[in-house]
Amino acid sequence: MIFRPPGKEDGAGILKLVHQLGVLDINSAYAYMLIGEHHAGTSVVAEIDGELVGFISAYLLPADPETVFVWQVGVAKAGRGKGLATRMLVEILKRPACADVRYLDTTIGPTNEPSQALFRGLARRLDTGMEENELFSAELFDAFDEGEPHDPHEPEILFRIGPFDGQRVNALSS
Ligand SMILES: CC(C)(COP(=O)(O)OP(=O)(O)OC[C@H]1O[C@@H](n2cnc3c(N)ncnc32)[C@H](O)[C@@H]1OP(=O)(O)O)[C@@H](O)C(=O)NCCC(=O)NCCS
Repeated sequence: MIFRPPGKEDGAGILKLVHQLGVLDINSAYAYMLIGEHHAGTSVVAEIDGELVGFISAYLLPADPETVFVWQVGVAKAGRGKGLATRMLVEILKRPACADVRYLDTTIGPTNEPSQALFRGLARRLDTGMEENELFSAELFDAFDEGEPHDPHEPEILFRIGPFDGQRVNALSS
């Protein structure tokens, strides 16, 4: 297993994995190429024998570079429950781009228990707190409704982990 920053040529592989996972919002090819082009230093792909088995897209908040915002996390079904997502989060936090990071933000749907467990586990490992506040309500997602039949989008709850420092991050095994 290797972890590496994505390049723009990884966009297609990330989008393919997102399709396979079936639960994540599917963004455009352009958005997935931007991850490699603009956010490689704070994002990661995991590969086994050249096959992409996991990824995290993340970026520093433009108005608050002490906060890294985790946009999407995905692990191939066969690779789950073995600590891979946790290891990818730690890999990002240990990067030079995150040297000044003190908080990690992400949003999670209220019914996504594996994802909530992942971030609760990270807060525990970092020995720090986690606050929850609704960021994007279901009503905000309704405004994108174009009348086609579809399942309503869950609200997205902001989970804010921190504060933590570099010493605490470096003590984590990756
Ligand atoms: C969420 C996801 C990334 C977790 O990946 P993973 O590699 O299996 O996670 P880890 O093995 O690092 O587990 C982290 C913690 O979550 C717990 N966990 C993992 N899957 C779980 C599940 N299905 N139910 C309950 N807890 C779970 C683990 O036990 C571990 O807990 P610990 O910290 O107490 O040890 C993976 O399930 C996935 O890709 N899901 C689909 C996409 C998704 O929902 N992404 C998140 C929203 S962007």
